[in-house]
Amino acid sequence: MDALQAILTRRSIRQYQPDRPIAPETVEMLLRAAMAAPSARNLRPWEYLVVEDRQVLDSLSRVHPHGRMLAQAPLAIVLCADPGRQPLEGYWLQDLSAATQNLLLAAHALGLGAVWLGVQPRPEREAALREVLGVPDPIRIGMVVAIGHPAESKEPVDRYDPHRVHRERW
Ligand SMILES: Cc1cc2nc3c(=O)[nH]c(=O)nc-3n(C[C@H](O)[C@H](O)[C@H](O)COP(=O)(O)O)c2cc1C
Repeated sequence: MDALQAILTRRSIRQYQPDRPIAPETVEMLLRAAMAAPSARNLRPWEYLVVEDRQVLDSLSRVHPHGRMLAQAPLAIVLCADPGRQPLEGYWLQDLSAATQNLLLAAHALGLGAVWLGVQPRPEREAALREVLGVPDPIRIGMVVAIGHPAESKEPVDRYDPHRVHRERW
């Protein structure tokens, strides 16, 4: 699958085949794709928390208000940042967002299904995840990606809207 095809056909997948773990080399490839993302001043403030333990995944599914699919997913990658490594105020979340999109596209290109679970800007979500995962201060939690072998398929959606495009001046 080439890059454009991956971009144009990716969908959020929230149902996964039970008892099918993700191979370790695939997990590494997903992380490699995430870490290939651009970041402000190339400072790469990210830290990745890989969660495959069933009990921890179940706990995550309970504390994230829209994360029910984590109870089925064999893998979650929690994208964290050390703000001390990204002194440009507000940039760490943008850095993590670029990494997240890379991760989603890589998962799709590898035949996996994945969905982005928002954490920011919701302090209560971050606090609950911090507690479950033992993430220390001052490390920040940006988002969670649930990943698995897909048990649903979704048609691509063309969202191109020429009315949202402005040329030269608004
Ligand atoms: C910042 C952000 C937060 C999101 N949070 C959630 C979430 O908590 N739970 C969920 O099921 N999907 C979440 N999504 C996925 C969106 O619902 C999804 O991308 C959107 O409906 C478009 O569908 P598609 O990804 O299939 O194209 C989130 C996406 C983004 C970018």
